[in-house]
Amino acid sequence: MKIILLGSGRVATQLGLALQNAGEEIVQVYSPTQAHAADLAKKLNAAAISSISALRKDADLYIISVKDDAIASIAKNLDLPNKLIVHTSGSTPMDVLASANIGVFYPLQTFSFEKEVDFKDVPIAIESNNPESLNVLSGLAQQLSSRVIKLDSKQRMTLHVAAVFACNFSNHLFAIAQHLLESQQLDFDLIRPLIAETAAKAQQHLPATVQTGPAIRKDEITLQKHLDLLKNEPHLQEIYRLLSQSIVNLR
Ligand SMILES: NC(=O)c1ccc[n+]([C@@H]2O[C@H](COP(=O)([O-])OP(=O)(O)OC[C@H]3O[C@@H](n4cnc5c(N)ncnc54)[C@H](OP(=O)(O)O)[C@@H]3O)[C@@H](O)[C@H]2O)c1
Repeated sequence: MKIILLGSGRVATQLGLALQNAGEEIVQVYSPTQAHAADLAKKLNAAAISSISALRKDADLYIISVKDDAIASIAKNLDLPNKLIVHTSGSTPMDVLASANIGVFYPLQTFSFEKEVDFKDVPIAIESNNPESLNVLSGLAQQLSSRVIKLDSKQRMTLHVAAVFACNFSNHLFAIAQHLLESQQLDFDLIRPLIAETAAKAQQHLPATVQTGPAIRKDEITLQKHLDLLKNEPHLQEIYRLLSQSIVNLR
């Protein structure tokens, strides 16, 4: 299949490499910054372009993988009637693509430029406005992953919100832990085994059933000591209070 990537960021990079490894042909990479398009195009043996007007019209699939807020405006400028156009966003409805033959190809993972991703276990949520294209996307997704699911735009958005809690917020909480440790000249390494064990437990159990800590124990004196310790950082105090209450509520 001839594929064109619109975007050269984290997802375009890792998805492009995975598709290439699966034997697909990436023919062009578009990105507004020519140097970014060129960097990825080089890895994929593709041509780099920074103008939509230079897009080839003979590809089988156009994957838009730019920041969410730019997807609709890119799609609006495409003149590709009947060509299959998809985006890779969790929270963008499919219909912003506003064309006859559209879909979504949303890989549920946290991507970075440096770390190559093994897509084998990465859930890929697909959607399309027609059964033929849904089959095409399903076949392509199955070449990469054993976990392909068909979701509508609302289900996909819920999956994305869950992912924000599980990944983005957890990582931010790790960053808060780092900040607190550093305030007492303590090394972040001290807490890495705890993070690893927490993630390992979530692989084997449902997280709500293995919750630990002062909130679930209702250790009121300890909870108050922690809030006192955070008194000079009211936003952290607020996060601590909200999360402790949420732990109790989800019991
Ligand atoms: N990151 C993840 O873990 C992840 C996971 C699943 C799905 N997604 C989704 O995949 C999509 C891409 O995310 P990403 O993390 O790969 O983004 P990213 O690394 O931040 O890359 C953003 C891309 O968007 C382009 N861009 C930025 N502003 C633009 C504009 N106004 N017009 C056209 N292009 C513009 C950038 O081009 P230049 O660099 O040339 O400026 C770049 O190619 C998003 O829809 C995101 O929700 C992300």
